[in-house]
Amino acid sequence: MKVFVAGASGTIGIPLVRALVAAGHQVTALTRSPQKQDELRRLGATPAVADALDADSLGSVVIAAKPTHVIHQLTALPKEGPSRASDLVSTNRLRIDGTRHLLDAAIRAGARRFIGGSFALLPGAESASSAGINEAANATRSMESQILNASRSHQIEGIVLRYGLFYGPTNPSTIKMIEMVQKRRFPTVRGDRGLLPFIHLDDAVSATLAALDHGSAGNVYDIVDDRAISISEAVRLMADYTGSPSPRAVPAWLIRLLMPYRARMLLMRLPLSNAKARAELGWRPMFPTFGDGLSKSFSRAA
Ligand SMILES: NC(=O)c1ccc[n+]([C@@H]2O[C@H](COP(=O)([O-])OP(=O)(O)OC[C@H]3O[C@@H](n4cnc5c(N)ncnc54)[C@H](OP(=O)(O)O)[C@@H]3O)[C@@H](O)[C@H]2O)c1
Repeated sequence: MKVFVAGASGTIGIPLVRALVAAGHQVTALTRSPQKQDELRRLGATPAVADALDADSLGSVVIAAKPTHVIHQLTALPKEGPSRASDLVSTNRLRIDGTRHLLDAAIRAGARRFIGGSFALLPGAESASSAGINEAANATRSMESQILNASRSHQIEGIVLRYGLFYGPTNPSTIKMIEMVQKRRFPTVRGDRGLLPFIHLDDAVSATLAALDHGSAGNVYDIVDDRAISISEAVRLMADYTGSPSPRAVPAWLIRLLMPYRARMLLMRLPLSNAKARAELGWRPMFPTFGDGLSKSFSRAA
């Protein structure tokens, strides 16, 4: 297949390009930075330089690549994760305008399938939660519905993958979180009832590859592992696997006061299931639980 990857230089983009090349696909990898072209070439891809917010320049590189498949992994979040609503503004634009430009270019290029990487925590975010999160949720819904509508009107086969929270040894927010856990600066929350869907980065990559030729057009798949856990359990497991001191426990109101944005996201209850992805994509996570994923990178401290 000839695959065009938008977001190719990102956290999921790099391992995704590597895996696509290893599977024998011809890959065109988008970046805005001419300086990143060599790195993309070293992965075995052909780089393409354009800004996804510039419809004309994006259109010309997509059409020149003549892709059969287009994968959308564009975001512009701080590397270690968003900590306030304003951190989401550029990503909202990419999800609304960037999606429109990329989808339009993919259709004009005659691509058969368009796969959009979405974020499981946003489409269902409570409407009362906060203005910033509402805008991010609306932008994510816009991205998803543009893809699904194009699919319903038979312009392209559209598939949405709602990934859980990425983690893994190369994931910048995991690296930051471990650093904080080691210094006892990432507390657990007393009585934490949150349930968050996680997904190891390697499993997010393998699900994306599976969606190239499995799954039916116009569908949304939750790409999450087998067992949602609270952020507090994730912190305890990280402390355990990295041999760090036991995390401090604080009341939920303190987290809400000190980190209002993160508290809203991290204390959510969102126990999603990967049953549909397993059945229709022929995919299964290599790391069914967060602990399984950590055990690949760290041996549990004695
Ligand atoms: N991180 C998570 O926990 C998480 C969880 C769930 C879902 N996701 C999803 O995973 C995907 C990507 O996340 P990520 O963590 O890999 O992102 P990332 O590491 O921040 O990478 C962002 C990518 O987008 C590109 N980009 C940003 N603005 C652009 C623009 N205007 N024009 C062209 N390219 C642009 C960047 O390219 P250059 O800088 O090279 O131009 C880079 O390749 C998204 O679909 C997101 O919704 C992430």
